[in-house]
Amino acid sequence: MTNSVKDLSIIVTGAGRGIGEAIARGLAGAGAKLTIADIDEGNAKSVAKSICDKGGHAIGVRVDVIERASVKKMIAAAVEAYGRLDAIFNNAGIAQVRKFLDITEADWKRVMDVNGLGVLIGMQEAIKQFITQGGGGKIINTASIAGKQGYEPLAHYSASKFGVIGLTQAAARAFGAQKININAICPGVVATDMWKLIDKGFKDEGLTKRENEAFETLSAGILLGRPSASDDLVGVSEFLASSGSDYVTGQSFVVDGGMVFI
Ligand SMILES: NC(=O)c1ccc[n+]([C@@H]2O[C@H](COP(=O)([O-])OP(=O)(O)OC[C@H]3O[C@@H](n4cnc5c(N)ncnc54)[C@H](O)[C@@H]3O)[C@@H](O)[C@H]2O)c1
Repeated sequence: MTNSVKDLSIIVTGAGRGIGEAIARGLAGAGAKLTIADIDEGNAKSVAKSICDKGGHAIGVRVDVIERASVKKMIAAAVEAYGRLDAIFNNAGIAQVRKFLDITEADWKRVMDVNGLGVLIGMQEAIKQFITQGGGGKIINTASIAGKQGYEPLAHYSASKFGVIGLTQAAARAFGAQKININAICPGVVATDMWKLIDKGFKDEGLTKRENEAFETLSAGILLGRPSASDDLVGVSEFLASSGSDYVTGQSFVVDGGMVFI
């Protein structure tokens, strides 16, 4: 048994920036062969190039996780480049701040589509590929501490992340016999562009008065004394993609510096 991801073919969605980029760079640094997938093709290709420039293996592809044809193409690109698929991180996601009573049907649909349907399609297409290869494989979905506790004014986002944990548990039950391990990670308050948007959302909704106030307030009680950097997610990601986690499935790992105990 090893925690090594060396030579594994791994897709990370939403890897053009933020948490996905950090996970992808970490895995590539440990010798994995990456498919960097993002709806922003320019970012995906530039992350891939910078990994290759440092001697790693990566290709950059455009994907829209809510379009099945696009997800199929992404998986085909990984298989063409590396001969197989060993693991996928369904990490792409979006957030939106809205007071509970103001959430519209369109808000709900947009957030649920990317965070829920996008993860479902990513799981389905990866599982089909794993089964074609003879079974075995790892799926790691990015949920959130908001998938463990409901946060207002992120109610629809929270619902979508509870959904990710539900999908993770259901699929783990369905595909254990095929030796497909399916787990989730739940980041806390991570300093990324998404949090800049969340922070702006709090201010726009009149819930905070100044920039960074929401970020600072939510980070204040973190037991390990600081908000998360994207790199804090790399260790658990490497473990969950490697054979070190062969006997772990259906779990959701909170990596939040000490905020939520569930
Ligand atoms: N930042 C946090 O504090 C935090 C906390 C908990 C969970 N998360 C989750 O972590 C994941 C990554 O968040 P982040 O902070 O890095 O966000 P981010 O906004 O910085 O990056 C998200 C990436 O996903 C891509 N993306 C968005 N929609 C897509 C689509 N339809 N298809 C393909 N790619 C798409 C974006 O282009 C972007 O590159 C998300 O699922 C988010 O919900 C973030």
